[in-house]
Amino acid sequence: MRLAALRIFLAATTLSATLLPFARAAAGGDAIAFTAPQAAIGAKTYAKNCASCHGANLGGVTAPALVGRTSAIAQQSLAEVYEYISQQMPMTAPGTLSKAQYLSILAYILQKNGHKAGSRPLSASVASTDTATIQKP
Ligand code: HEC
Repeated sequence: MRLAALRIFLAATTLSATLLPFARAAAGGDAIAFTAPQAAIGAKTYAKNCASCHGANLGGVTAPALVGRTSAIAQQSLAEVYEYISQQMPMTAPGTLSKAQYLSILAYILQKNGHKAGSRPLSASVASTDTATIQKP
């Protein structure tokens, strides 16, 4: 890459990194967008498909806990967890839920980890790219 092009690239990268938190705040709610109704649907979907192994309150039973600072997913990014659950879970029937169901479960997991609901639902494009961690920094 030529130097001038590199400078422009770096400036653009820095700018978007600087603006991202403001864009998020402007969307209402917390760092990661999801809505309260989405999380409520997620709670029901979770209870049906995940709670038997991960616990009614996500505390873990035969499978790892999905909530709290020491949970297995605390330091994982939204994108990592979305990819993992949509391909590997439920353990006994991987990938059998719909995209909307995985997204709502993820919204519920975020809510249980202290993220606040906002006005925009969690979308697949955000869930598959967002590097924010499940545990709030
Ligand atoms: C039949 C039991 C079972 C069910 C049902 C189940 N899981 Fe799991 N899950 C597991 C086990 C066991 C592991 C640990 C796998 C490993 O460490 O290789 C796991 C791992 C995970 C992880 C990764 C934790 C880590 O260590 O990084 C996530 C996230 C997860 N499950 C989410 C879900 C979600 C969401 C559902 C419902 C859609 C679900 N699971 C349903 C058994 C289950």
